[in-house]
Amino acid sequence: MRRPILTANWKMHKTVAEAEGFVDAFLPRIATVRDVEIVLAVPFTVLDRVGQRLKGSAVQLAAQNVHPEAGGAFTAEIAVGMLADLGCRYAIVGHSERRSLFGEADEFIARKAAALLGGGLLPIVCVGESLGEREAERTFEVVRRQLEASLARVPKERAAEIVIAYEPVWAIGTGRTATPESAQEVHAFIRERLVERFGGAGAQIRLQYGGSVKPENVYALMKQPEIDGALVGGASLDPESFARLVSFEAQGESQ
Ligand code: 13P
Repeated sequence: MRRPILTANWKMHKTVAEAEGFVDAFLPRIATVRDVEIVLAVPFTVLDRVGQRLKGSAVQLAAQNVHPEAGGAFTAEIAVGMLADLGCRYAIVGHSERRSLFGEADEFIARKAAALLGGGLLPIVCVGESLGEREAERTFEVVRRQLEASLARVPKERAAEIVIAYEPVWAIGTGRTATPESAQEVHAFIRERLVERFGGAGAQIRLQYGGSVKPENVYALMKQPEIDGALVGGASLDPESFARLVSFEAQGESQ
């Protein structure tokens, strides 16, 4: 049984005061949520203070990026050990914004994922096709290539611990969610590739969908057999909205 995992990706949002205000409003709202892993991926500048505020709760702390080297002359970069020091459990790697705006390639992402596993953290590895790729019917080819290359350094015995996020680029921040059925289709394809690559461990890897997930559509997405979670941008910035998202079962009952 794969435990649902919902991750807030705040991207480049929130000051320390805003982040602390979020946590203070969020934790009481999710006090009764059970059997869901909740993760906050926050800017580096608020990791420490958010981590302090989350102590004693079950909510996990995550970074939005990491550098693969353990240390050295890499101005402005952050190493795995630094994230571990602040209590991070996860880091997102290969987000489409990193790939497209900052030129990150699969090989670099693969090194990050391996460095995280080596340093006691777990990667949330993002894949997903652009609008042009979808329209050219290249979705499966692109996702296959990204998966193979980004996971090239993940050892089989650690595979079950990683998280994959499928985020079609055309659905990010656009309000244009993939239908539950079309997201499920790609997730099923990803599952097949993971089982091919990792055997039984591939069936244990949790797959998140990302791209305009909201309280109103989360239930239908989460009901799909191969959708184990969500990676949420815009709708994770407001504590009430993200609390409704992580209570997705209750959202289903109210629909
Ligand atoms: P939105 O939820 O704002 O579409 O962002 C999705 C995303 O990129 C999460 O990583």
